[in-house]
Amino acid sequence: MNKDKLIARREFLTANTWLTYDYTKSAQAKGAAKPADQKPAKSDQEIINLPEFSDDILENSNILDLIKNRKTQRQYTDQALSMRELSFLVWATQGLRNKSDKTASRTVPSGGNRHSFETYLAINRVEGLAPGIYRYLPFEHALILEQEFSDPVELQEKMKEAAKGQLFFAKAAVGFIWTTLPYRTEWRYSENAAKMIAQDSGHICQNLYLAAEAIGCGTCAIGAYSQKDADNLVSVDGKDELVIYMAPIGKV
Ligand SMILES: Cc1cc2nc3c(=O)[nH]c(=O)nc-3n(C[C@H](O)[C@H](O)[C@H](O)COP(=O)(O)O)c2cc1C
Repeated sequence: MNKDKLIARREFLTANTWLTYDYTKSAQAKGAAKPADQKPAKSDQEIINLPEFSDDILENSNILDLIKNRKTQRQYTDQALSMRELSFLVWATQGLRNKSDKTASRTVPSGGNRHSFETYLAINRVEGLAPGIYRYLPFEHALILEQEFSDPVELQEKMKEAAKGQLFFAKAAVGFIWTTLPYRTEWRYSENAAKMIAQDSGHICQNLYLAAEAIGCGTCAIGAYSQKDADNLVSVDGKDELVIYMAPIGKV
C-alpha cells in the first residue's frame, strides 16, 4: 500500500469526527427506534441456561498476579472446558454486571453503554455441549445453538479458514467470535461509531485474557482473520453485522 493510502487509513484513528458531530442530527435525537440490545433467539431455538459459578473455580484471584502473568498463549491441551468455566468466561467478557440494573451495564465498558457486540462461540470441547456454533444471550445468561456440526472436523476446517490458517484457533476448546452490529452505536454517535466500536472490542478481549488466566486457560487475540470466512462461519451478512475480533481459549 502506498504512503498516501496509508495516511488516508490513519484518518480513522483521529478524533476529527467529533468536531463535525452534531447530536441533534443523530438517529436517536431524530426519534428513530432504539436498536435492540441483544439479537433475539428464534422461537424454535432452545435456551441453554448457563450454570452459576462462584470464586471456587478460580485458580488465582489476585489481580496483581493476573495482570502480571497475562500473556498470549497459542498452545492448549485437549482438555474440555466445564460449563461453569464457560459460564464465567462469557460473563467476564459480555455479561451483565447486575441483572436488575435497568441500564444493563456489563462487565466491560462501552462508549455510551451502547455495546454493539454479539458473542458467538465455536465449540469444539465443552462438557455437555455438542460441537457447533452457539451464541451467548447476556440478558438471559444463556446460550443458543446456531448451527450444530455432526462432523467436528468440518467445524475445525471452517475455524481454520476464518482464522486465515492459524491452526491453534481451530484446535482450541472454544473459539470466541465477536461480531458488531454497528447501528447500535451509530444510532447515537453517527460517524464517531466506527472508531468507538474498535475501541470497545479491545476491552472484551482483555477481559478474556484476564479471566482465562484466573482459571488456568490461555487465549490469543486474533486480529488477522478472513472477514468473509469469519462472517460465513457465524452466518452474518458482513454489513449490518460483521465479525470484529476473535480469540481461542483452552487449558494450558
Ligand atoms: C489487536 C490484536 C491482534 C492480534 N492478532 C493476532 C493474530 O492474528 N495472531 C496471533 O498469533 N497473535 C495475534 N495477536 C497477539 C499478539 O501477537 C500479542 O499480544 C503480542 O505479541 C504481545 O504478546 P503478549 O500478549 O504475550 O504480551 C494480536 C494481538 C492484538 C492485541
